[in-house]
Amino acid sequence: MKLFIDTANIDEIKEASRLGLIDGVTTNPTLIAREGREFMPLVKEICQLVDGPISLEAVSSLSNDMLKEARDLAHIHPNAVVKLPLTRDGLIATKQLATEGIKVNMTLVFSPTQALLAAKAGAAYVSPFVGRLDDISHWGMDLVEQIITIYDNYDFETEIIVASVRNPLHVLEAAMIGADIATIPFAVIEQLIKHPLSDIGVERFLKDWEKVEKKNKR
Ligand code: G3P
Repeated sequence: MKLFIDTANIDEIKEASRLGLIDGVTTNPTLIAREGREFMPLVKEICQLVDGPISLEAVSSLSNDMLKEARDLAHIHPNAVVKLPLTRDGLIATKQLATEGIKVNMTLVFSPTQALLAAKAGAAYVSPFVGRLDDISHWGMDLVEQIITIYDNYDFETEIIVASVRNPLHVLEAAMIGADIATIPFAVIEQLIKHPLSDIGVERFLKDWEKVEKKNKR
């Protein structure tokens, strides 16, 4: 399973890249706004840091405007992927962009039939938002499972990005059911690394090693 980092924060992207775990980056208007920086220099910097798909979201509502914005975003870097919402206009724009060879990540996907439409429109990626479904008492991961079944039934090549990930269990379940990608906030990456038994184990080994060193000095 590929791991993307879901952030526009340069320090987090640098640190995650240093871990060698990051295959791509996803951003959205909220994450960009959080950084308080101008859009273009920020995303250009992100594109220099990670050699993998970088999702950049268009903010237009009408398909014609989306197309123009998407083409501009795609020109920023060869790894740029245009994020479009799963709306009527988003689908129309995705279909056209796919014919132009521009990769689209259809976002804000909350139902399996929306994901079916995204694949039929030629989206390179589809982003089901599992955390936001959990928030309203729907099992977010059930949606991912349904999308996997549909895509397998028809050999769709659209890759599934498990998005709106809030905790390590989302990542575990995504991996268990065979999602292509999970896009994860930095805090969850840190949670994935940590295990108290690993820390206790390291501490114990180091203490025991001190005994060996003392003996060797005698
Ligand atoms: O990947 C989409 C993500 O950024 C949305 O997350 O936590 O706002 O639902 P959240």
